[in-house]
Amino acid sequence: MIKPHGAEELKPLYVEDDVVRAQLLEEAAGLPAVVVSSAAASSAVMLGSGYFTPLTGFMDAADAKSVAANMHTTDGLLWPTPVVNVVPGDQVPAGVAPGSRIALLDPNVDGNPVIAVQEVTAIESLSDAERAAIIDQVFGTDDDAHPGVAAFKAAGDTLIAGPIEVLNFSYFPGDFPATFRTAVELRAEIAERGWDRVVAFQTRNPMHRAHEELCRMAQQAVEADGILIHMLLGKLKAGDIPADVRDASIRKMVELYFPENTVMIAGYGFDMLYAGPREAVLHAIFRQNSGCTHLIVGRDHAGVGDYYGAFDAQTIFDGISDALEIEIFRGDHTVWCNECNEVVMMRDCPHGGDAYLFLSGTQVREMLAAGEALPPEFARPEVADILAEYYQQETVGA
Ligand code: ADX
Repeated sequence: MIKPHGAEELKPLYVEDDVVRAQLLEEAAGLPAVVVSSAAASSAVMLGSGYFTPLTGFMDAADAKSVAANMHTTDGLLWPTPVVNVVPGDQVPAGVAPGSRIALLDPNVDGNPVIAVQEVTAIESLSDAERAAIIDQVFGTDDDAHPGVAAFKAAGDTLIAGPIEVLNFSYFPGDFPATFRTAVELRAEIAERGWDRVVAFQTRNPMHRAHEELCRMAQQAVEADGILIHMLLGKLKAGDIPADVRDASIRKMVELYFPENTVMIAGYGFDMLYAGPREAVLHAIFRQNSGCTHLIVGRDHAGVGDYYGAFDAQTIFDGISDALEIEIFRGDHTVWCNECNEVVMMRDCPHGGDAYLFLSGTQVREMLAAGEALPPEFARPEVADILAEYYQQETVGA
C-alpha cells in the first residue's frame, strides 16, 4: 500500500491502550487546562486519527511561519498549513511554561471534556505583523469576510507548541457513527477490499450529477479499483449544508447509481479552512495517509467566494509533486451538456456555454426551498428530495 506522508508507518496520536488512556485522563484532571479553539480541537482529531502523519503535535512559531511562507516545516517536510494551538494570551493558564504538561479541553462537547494532553515545548506570542503574514500566505487574503481568515484571527495570538496524546475523537464518532473513520481504519478497509488503486473525492457538499460523473471519469482515467468519497464532518460556514443531510444524500446516490463494492463513503473530523490551494495540498497529504493513490482536484477546490482562481488548487501541485506519493487527478469543469445529452468535462466537449446547464448554488437553494424540482440532468431526483426536505424545514423554521 502507498506509504504514509513523510514516514514509513502511520503515526496516529490517539492512545489506543485503555489503561494508559485512563492514566492520562486521571493525570489531566490535575493539570492546568485550556479550552482550545474548534480548529485546534479538530486538528487534535486529525492528529489522533493518523491523517496528519508524521506530525507529532502542535507547531511552534518557527514551523507555523515556515509552512505558511514556503509550505515546508523547518525540517523540510512538505506541509501547507499551520497546525497550531493558538489561544488568546490571557488564556494561557498561570504557571505554564516549556516543560509543563497541560490538558486541552474540547470546546465542541458539553462540559468541555479533555480531548488531549499536551507536553508544552514553547509558548510564543505572534506579533500582528507575523499573524498578518501567515494569514496572507495561507489564505491569500486578509478579508474578515473569508471564514477561514475570520476563524484564524478569532483564535488569538499565542501559540502553545508541543506533542500531544489524543484521548478521544470529540463529537465525531457519536454524531456520525457510520461515517467517521480514522486513517488507520481506512487503510485497513482498503486492504480488506483488496484495492490497489483508490481515488479519493474530497467534499463538503451534497453531490449532484456533475460531481458523480467527475468521480466516475476519474476512476476510469486512473484505472482505480474503487472510489473513496471522503467528506468533511467538522465546522462549516453558515449556509453550507449540514454534514448529516449531505451524508444521507451521498449514501442515496451511491446506493442507486454506483455498482456495489466500488465506493467507500467515509468522513473525517476537521473544520473547513476554505484555504483553496493550500487546503488542496493538505487534502492530498491526508488522503495519502488514508491509503489512497489519487485525489480528485476539480474546479475551485476548497474555495469560497472569489478568493481563488478556478484551477489554482491544481497548479499549486506543479512544483511539489515529488514530495508526495499520491497523484492528483486534475478535473476540468463538469456540467450537463444538452447537445451531448450527458455530463461532460468541458475540455472534452466541443459544445459551448449555451449547451450547458448551469445552476448557481443560490438558484439551487431557492428552488429547493420553494418546493420546485431540480432538473434531473442537474441532480438525481432521490438526492434532490433529501435536500428539498432539509431546505423546506429550514424555510419553515426561519
Ligand atoms: S470542497 O470545498 O470540498 O472542495 P465541493 O464539495 O464543492 O467543495 O467540491 C468537491 C470536489 O469537486 C472538489 O475537488 C471540487 O474542485 C470539485 N468540483 C465541484 N464542482 C465541480 C464542477 N462542476 N466541475 C469540476 N469540479 C468540481
